[in-house]
Amino acid sequence: MKVAIVGITGVVGETILRVLDERSVAIDELGAFASRDRREPLLWRGRPWPILAATPRALREGGFDAVFFASSDDASAELAEHAVAGGAAVIDNSATFRMRDGVPLIVPEVNPHAVGDDDMIFPVANCTAIVLCVALAPIARAAGLRSVRVATYQAVSGAGRAGLDALEREEKAAYRLEENLASSPFVRQIFRNVIPQVGSIDEFGDSGEEKKIAAETRKMLELPDLHVAATAVRVPVRYAHSEAVFVETERDTDPVALGEALGAAPGVVFFPDGNVTPRDVEGEDRVFVSRLRAEEGPSKRHFQLWVVGDQVRKGAATNAVQILELLIAREHFTKSKRQVLAD
Ligand SMILES: NC(=O)c1ccc[n+]([C@@H]2O[C@H](COP(=O)([O-])OP(=O)(O)OC[C@H]3O[C@@H](n4cnc5c(N)ncnc54)[C@H](OP(=O)(O)O)[C@@H]3O)[C@@H](O)[C@H]2O)c1
Repeated sequence: MKVAIVGITGVVGETILRVLDERSVAIDELGAFASRDRREPLLWRGRPWPILAATPRALREGGFDAVFFASSDDASAELAEHAVAGGAAVIDNSATFRMRDGVPLIVPEVNPHAVGDDDMIFPVANCTAIVLCVALAPIARAAGLRSVRVATYQAVSGAGRAGLDALEREEKAAYRLEENLASSPFVRQIFRNVIPQVGSIDEFGDSGEEKKIAAETRKMLELPDLHVAATAVRVPVRYAHSEAVFVETERDTDPVALGEALGAAPGVVFFPDGNVTPRDVEGEDRVFVSRLRAEEGPSKRHFQLWVVGDQVRKGAATNAVQILELLIAREHFTKSKRQVLAD
């Protein structure tokens, strides 16, 4: 199998490579792409692979079976269709195709059935929404879902290499008592701070991240009328997003029944006691749920939980590789190759 990664020098791209190794995905050839050529090749699986600027031609004529995009919305918009024209399945971490009608938004633990035989573009959903949906899916199955409210505590790596660098620079400057004049992807200092804005704010006061969480959660859970309200906050944590989640179920239930559903759910680790922090889950592929409890009062439909997941892994790279594995299992590549040859 011949696979390419666009954005191989970034946080998600390099993690995709690591996850492909960890899961021993059989790959014979790698196309390594970034925004520009690099002098030094990438060493992977004992071989050097040149890192090249991603171009429409390279992606259309590269003979790739699958292309991971881990770059930017603009790069996916410009290049993904060329990869598809060359016969590749596109697994895209950007927001470009996520909400398009007819395009599935797959989280293998939640909605693997949504993969269609003719689909060629597979967006990976927003990282915060993936972590949320892995935890919500068993609750929805057990008791239905009427509404979800969530406050997020999002790691700086969610803004890629630039986010990690900004926190590190601010830390160093603070400890050396220096002024830090370098630019940052965040609207305020993030070191020793929390910022209640992830993405740009629209005319109604919602941030881009908050809108993605709501829309993509509805799409992944296949609940188009689900009420979802989010406040997204950036915190000075390197990896893993945390989420304080408040749910209203459709049917009466209790924490014991919900805990059993969460404990049995694929991709979830449920802690009935204690709590889980982002540092505990760095490098993990599963989503961790703790502090599940009923809200005070007579209602048997209002619950709170604390959800944590490594967003670079389950929220991006691991979910992308799981989609590739799902396609391999469905013999997608045998079929799509045949189709290209027949055309
Ligand atoms: N970080 C996360 O937690 C996370 C989670 C979910 C989804 N995502 C999404 O995943 C994608 C990558 O994010 P990231 O965090 O890995 O960002 P990043 O660390 O900033 O890396 C971006 C990568 O994209 C490459 N790139 C930029 N413009 C390009 C272009 N026009 N053509 C080809 N390559 C280009 C960069 O190459 P150069 O090194 O040459 O600049 C770099 O390899 C984004 O769409 C992001 O929204 C990220």
